[in-house]
Amino acid sequence: MANDEANHSASKSADRSSGIRHSESVIPSSAAAVLRATGLRKRYPSGDQTLEVLRGVDLAVQAGESVSIRGESGSGKSTLLNILAGLDRPDGGELFWRTEAAHQLSLGALTARRGRFLGMVFQAYYLIPELDALANVLMAARVVGPVGAAARARAAALLRRVGLAARMAHLPAQLSGGERQRVAVARALMNFPAVILADEPTGNLDERTGDEVIALLLEVCAEEHAALVLVTHNPAHAKKTARQLTLQLGRMVESVRFGV
Ligand SMILES: Nc1ncnc2c1ncn2[C@@H]1O[C@H](COP(=O)(O)OP(=O)(O)O)[C@@H](O)[C@H]1O
Ligand SMILES: [Mg+2]
Repeated sequence: MANDEANHSASKSADRSSGIRHSESVIPSSAAAVLRATGLRKRYPSGDQTLEVLRGVDLAVQAGESVSIRGESGSGKSTLLNILAGLDRPDGGELFWRTEAAHQLSLGALTARRGRFLGMVFQAYYLIPELDALANVLMAARVVGPVGAAARARAAALLRRVGLAARMAHLPAQLSGGERQRVAVARALMNFPAVILADEPTGNLDERTGDEVIALLLEVCAEEHAALVLVTHNPAHAKKTARQLTLQLGRMVESVRFGV
């Protein structure tokens, strides 16, 4: 058990020999960060008390980087991802989408910008049941502008890339769980996003299918130069990203970094 993890906030000096980095390295410093959060706070009323879910979360994701976030159930992973996605607002702290101060934008303004900046993949897929796979992927493009031949070609190419060349005209109900999630991955990438946020994308899949979806997600994000923020319970999946973080007691802990 890495006892350093518990000490990370108390200690200011990085212990590189143990692979543990301290909070300074989580705090953004580089202008190359595509997604950057400092001091994010979120609380929810809980009866006559207040539940402090995020207590000052720092996170910087560089262009094209893959990062995993683990944490116990209820630790605030989905709350954090929704704030990073601009679907919810923090009670405090700053959030930058590239250089834009997202924390200063209204939810409406965030919605207008989200479709071109990031894509999301959820545990429950969230495909539109009445639309076939191709039309589901194209929905991402419709949200940000008119859909022409180039968008159709891109959607079809993405579906081919995720292994669904023979499934483009299938409705979600006609697809397996793994196939539905592949459609969701293609949809998330449709608008050439800088960032993909994936919230337990294998939570509804069997082990082998989950492994395949994670491998695919990492591959296509790399090919598309999209950064990936992967929330997962699965330690084997977390280890596949270049950097592994843990949300613990409302703060972000960086435990391992490979290849640096
Ligand atoms: N809208 C909400 N209102 C009140 N409490 C919430 C709300 N959303 C989440 N919570 C609480 O915040 C905590 C973190 O939730 P969540 O972000 O979903 O955790 P995780 O995704 O890590 O399992 C949980 O205790 C949850 O019950
Ligand atoms: Mg969650």
